[in-house]
Amino acid sequence: MADNDDTEALARLLRSRRSIRDFSAAEVPAELITAILDDARWAPSWSNTQPYKVAVATGNLKEQLKEQLSERYDAATKLQGGGVFRKLAAFLTRSKALPDGDFNTRFEYPKELTPRRRATGFGLYATLGIAREDGAARNRQMRRNFEFFGAPVVLFIFVRQELGAYSVLDAGIFLQSLMLSAQARGLGTCAEGALGTWAGPVREAFEVPPAYKLLCGLALGWPSDHVVNAYNPGRADVAEMLIPVKRD
Ligand SMILES: Cc1cc2nc3c(=O)[nH]c(=O)nc-3n(C[C@H](O)[C@H](O)[C@H](O)COP(=O)(O)O)c2cc1C
Repeated sequence: MADNDDTEALARLLRSRRSIRDFSAAEVPAELITAILDDARWAPSWSNTQPYKVAVATGNLKEQLKEQLSERYDAATKLQGGGVFRKLAAFLTRSKALPDGDFNTRFEYPKELTPRRRATGFGLYATLGIAREDGAARNRQMRRNFEFFGAPVVLFIFVRQELGAYSVLDAGIFLQSLMLSAQARGLGTCAEGALGTWAGPVREAFEVPPAYKLLCGLALGWPSDHVVNAYNPGRADVAEMLIPVKRD
């Protein structure tokens, strides 16, 4: 039975967790990373299949991945600014700029969800003092994704695809478990779908079993006191989430 302390502690953790997009340089002790993984492994999953694996990068390996992924981001940014011939040349030369991720990370958002997405992005840029029309500053901020926002640790989450939506759902529950365990220990995290864009460098760095597909990353470290970490995009209220009963 949960006591009142558990109820309050969990509510506090759930409500106060925010995505951290600036970290202090302080290292995270290896035992702490292990302790978080050890908590999160208790996440529920379909038939207890636990259809996910994690690759952890710190130190030189993390720096190497940061270099390689940032290089790809820069190449992709240049390509976006270029015309159709540059894009064709990139395709023909198998440029590093082209996404080689296991999942598509660029999709059309449903019309109904677009306002939330836009509000979240604009709110973030406003917090950072970046004007809507300042494409260069926005690109620099986007690039921070591939620098893991300065985090000393980055986790890459892999999933088996055979269970379809359900294995991805399991991985999502695991991801939230990691984030809450980190939060409970004073650490900060940012889930990063952006890190699913290029799988090549991650596969080169780790012995990933081929059946496991790169779903996303998770930046992990000690939150800095940068203003970006105070950004709270809020949530729809319960009433908006609830589907009403049909009435005739
Ligand atoms: C699966 C997933 C992928 C995400 N990918 C990114 C990302 O690539 N870059 C980023 O800055 N934030 C990313 N986020 C963080 C969301 O933008 C954030 O959770 C959302 O805006 C709510 O804000 P909060 O986490 O601060 O409450 C991701 C979150 C999830 C759950």
